[in-house]
Formats: sequence, C-alpha cells, structure tokens
Amino acid sequence: MTNTALHDLFLSARTAMAKAHAPYSKFPVGAALRTADGRVFSGANVENASFPEGWCAETTMLSAYVMGGGGEITDIAVVAERMDRVTPCGGCRQRLAEFAAPTTRLHLCDRTGVVQTLSMSEILPLGFSGDTLQ
Ligand code: THU
Repeated sequence: MTNTALHDLFLSARTAMAKAHAPYSKFPVGAALRTADGRVFSGANVENASFPEGWCAETTMLSAYVMGGGGEITDIAVVAERMDRVTPCGGCRQRLAEFAAPTTRLHLCDRTGVVQTLSMSEILPLGFSGDTLQ
C-alpha cells in the first residue's frame, strides 16, 4: 500500500472517531480497514447507558465490512482521541482475527497519523482459531 493510501486509511479511522457515541467514557475510538481490492470500511465505538451493552470501534467496523461483502483484509488502522497509540482490546483482537490474516497489518495511530505497524500475529499470538472447530 502506498503512503497516501495508508494516510487515507488513517483519515477514515479519524473521521469515524468523530462519530463515536462515547458519552460515558468520553474516550472516542475510530477504526478503518482496507481490503485487497481497495474498499474501506470504518467504525466508531457505540456506548450504552447500560455500560456492558456498548461496543468497540473495531466491532462497528467489522459489521460494516461483513455487510459490505467482506473480502481479504490487508490493513487496519485504529485511533483514539485520548491516546498516543491505541491498541485494540483483547476481545477485538479475537474479532479481528476472525476475518484478518496473520499477515494483515495493524496500524496504531495518534491524532496525526500512524505511530506503529504490527501484524495480526504479533498483536494476537497463539490466538484461538475456528480451524480447531472443524
Ligand atoms: N474501545 C474501543 O472502541 N476499541 C478498543 O480497542 C478499546 C476500547 C472503546 C470502548 C469504550 O467505548 C471506550 O473505548 C473506553 O473503553
């Protein structure tokens, strides 16, 4: 992926973050993924007055991706307003691993751009795989 495409993916995540519904934590998060054929899907965290009913930005993003037809995920960017380098929570790592490849790049961002890039297998080593259920 070109630097411009990567920056665009970051901007998609940041634009999504602006739509977060996070009145309780006041911790807006945005996430965006890119497929091999260049489609981009994004999402923000959506909280609820009944706290456990809220969900993460990555989850919203994955819902948009599934409803948009899915496909091979090459890159994922995540950004949080109040962190210099946000990392997906444990549950979201598992959700991402359901659709991403071990080689999918995960770009951790601050408010201005990508800070660190890791692979899915680095962020979720020894993850539980559906292959085990066959
Ligand atoms: N959050 C995300 O959206 N993604 C993560 O990976 C970490 C946490 C959200 C959930 C909640 O709305 C807020 O951040 C504070 O935990």
